[in-house]
Amino acid sequence: MPSPLSFPPIDTGALRCREVMRRKTIGVFDSGVGGLTVLKAIHQRLPLESTAYLGDTARVPYGPRSPEVVIRYCIDNARFLLNQDLKLLVVACNTASAVALDVLQKMLAIPVIGVIEPGARAAIEATKNNRIGIIGTRGTVKSGAYQSAIRKQRGNVELKASACPLFVPLAEEGWTDGPIARLTAARYLAAFDGFGMDTLVLGCTHYPLLRSAIAEVVGEGVSLVDSAQTTAAAVEELLDFRGWKAEGPSDAPPSRHYFVTDQPEPFADVGERFLGEPIRGIERITFPEF
Ligand code: DGL
Repeated sequence: MPSPLSFPPIDTGALRCREVMRRKTIGVFDSGVGGLTVLKAIHQRLPLESTAYLGDTARVPYGPRSPEVVIRYCIDNARFLLNQDLKLLVVACNTASAVALDVLQKMLAIPVIGVIEPGARAAIEATKNNRIGIIGTRGTVKSGAYQSAIRKQRGNVELKASACPLFVPLAEEGWTDGPIARLTAARYLAAFDGFGMDTLVLGCTHYPLLRSAIAEVVGEGVSLVDSAQTTAAAVEELLDFRGWKAEGPSDAPPSRHYFVTDQPEPFADVGERFLGEPIRGIERITFPEF
C-alpha cells in the first residue's frame, strides 16, 4: 500500500471545474418537434440533467434547403442556446448534422454531438442480412452522410436511401397515424420494394413520430431504427468521460426549458403528446437577424 504522500496531489482546480460543469445544461435543437424524440431519450437516460430545447419552428422544414442556408440557421440556433449556460450541444436534426456538424464543432468551445453517427451505429447493430434502407429529408439523403457513416463502420452492406419530405409537415401537424399518414408512407416506401432490407433507418428525427404508420407498411420483418437512444448513449458516454454528469442531491434540481421561433401552441400540442409530459413555459424567441 503506497503512502498517501506518494499519490499525485489532487488537482482542486479541475475538480472545481467538474463541479461547475455538472450543473450546466445540455442544449438540444431541431427545426421543430422532431428533436423531441432525442430529448425524450436524453431525459429517460439522464433524468438529473438540465436541458434547453430549441425548435426553429419559424423556419421548418430544413430538409429542402441548401447546405449554406441550413448552416446559417444552425449557427443562429447554437448562438442562442449558448446563452443558456451549456456544457454540451446536441444537434437533434439529421439534416443539420449532415451539413453543419463540422462547422459547429469547429466554431464552438463546447462538445457538439450529432445524430448521424449514433443512427448509423443503431442500424449496424440491428441488421442481420446487411441490407439497410435509409429514409430522411432530401438534404440528408443528398448529403450521403448516412451512407458514409454506415460504410465507415461496416463495408459489406447494401444501402438504399430515399427521401420522404411530406413526413415532416405531417409530424409537425400531429397527423402521425390514420389514413393520410399510412397512404403517404405506402407511397414513399414503395421505393424499397424488392430491396429485401431487414432494417430501415428513420434518418430524420421527425420520423419516429410516424413509426406506427411506417411499421404497418414495411411489415414485421423490418426493424425500424432511429438515433434517439444511441444519441442519448453518446451523450452519457461523453459526460462520463469528462466527469460532467449531474449527480443528484448535491446538484440543483434539473430544469427543462423550451424555446420556439414561432407560436408555442402547436409545438406544445404535438410535443406534449409525444414527450408524454406537459411542456410548460415555452418561450417564443427571435434571433437578432430576423
Ligand atoms: N427533423 C429534422 C431532421 O432530422 C429536420 C426535418 C426538416 O426540418 O426538414 O432532418
